[in-house]
Amino acid sequence: MDERVITNNELDEDAFESSIRPNRLSEYVGQSEVKENLDVFIKAAKMRDESLDHVLLYGPPGLGKTTLAFIIANELGSNIKTSSGPAIEKTGDLAALLSSLEPGDVLFIDEIHRMPRYIEEVLYSAMEDFTLDIMVGNDSSSRSIKIDLPPFTLVGATTRAGDLTGPLRDRFGITSKLKFYTVEELTNIVKRTSRVLGCPIEEEAAVELASRSRGTPRIANRLFRRVRDYAIVMGNGVIDLDITRMALDKLKVDSSGLDETDFNLLLSIIERFNGGPVGIEALASSIGEEQTTIEDVYEPFLLQQGFLKRTSRGRMVTEKAYEHLNIKREE
Ligand SMILES: Nc1ncnc2c1ncn2[C@@H]1O[C@H](COP(=O)(O)OP(=O)(O)O)[C@@H](O)[C@H]1O
Ligand SMILES: [Mg+2]
Repeated sequence: MDERVITNNELDEDAFESSIRPNRLSEYVGQSEVKENLDVFIKAAKMRDESLDHVLLYGPPGLGKTTLAFIIANELGSNIKTSSGPAIEKTGDLAALLSSLEPGDVLFIDEIHRMPRYIEEVLYSAMEDFTLDIMVGNDSSSRSIKIDLPPFTLVGATTRAGDLTGPLRDRFGITSKLKFYTVEELTNIVKRTSRVLGCPIEEEAAVELASRSRGTPRIANRLFRRVRDYAIVMGNGVIDLDITRMALDKLKVDSSGLDETDFNLLLSIIERFNGGPVGIEALASSIGEEQTTIEDVYEPFLLQQGFLKRTSRGRMVTEKAYEHLNIKREE
């Protein structure tokens, strides 16, 4: 859903991402508040020899939710089982997952907001008292059975915390919101990637790449890969500032990290809706994107950077957007 900037073969991208994923909390850059809290809770759980409270991670795509779920398991010294909201179609799927858990295991459910409601209800007792209440048998002879589960930690990830039902949200003891990364943090991530891949990058080039990555580690790493290609083909393999600028310009990533869709979104509000306010449906159809993609992927960064604001009547571009796009505002 957040395929942006460049599309790569997905499997290839997955393999690439897991190869550069940090494994320890100490290697996880930024998000200091989230990290400090988790560090304490993980240590406490280990000292008490209990399972860690359930953790809900939320924030835009590419900010490190999956990475953090794996780190939590690693720091706990536990195994991790993974699934996702859309993949759990029947209560039986969830029951099978839950009954495969060993004491202290981490169960990671990505996109947890997309789990059907009737399945969610099975999770309630599993999360609360580590029991599984399910109906078995057919219509004429169905009965409910209760199965004890080992203590486990559910780590849920979502791009839309607002879409979770109250009862589910309440059952997470720890809720962490991931924020966009600063240029400095992303620079560190880029340098780490450069070390891990054994592909050198000059300091100014790392800063340039970081400042054009939309506050998002996944994008920084993806752009790193593309820039590296240019450095190999057109230079001596070392990523310098010139190559970085040229590659990013070719990829249509602008100086603030806005890509083509961000640009079209702002331009469309200015040109077709006179700067706004415009409703999300009209905006979505005007730029040919899904509403949820705009809300989950594009808007958060544009809002955070002050190019866009939300009012009760819809989205409006700001003065900063006019300036950035170099368009004079019509009175
Ligand atoms: N805090 C971080 N420090 C270093 N690298 C990170 C961090 N967060 C994310 N990454 C990198 O960004 C990529 C995307 O992160 P991921 O956990 O898959 O994001 P999400 O699950 O939120 O979409 C990962 O491959 C990882 O290498
Ligand atoms: Mg993820």
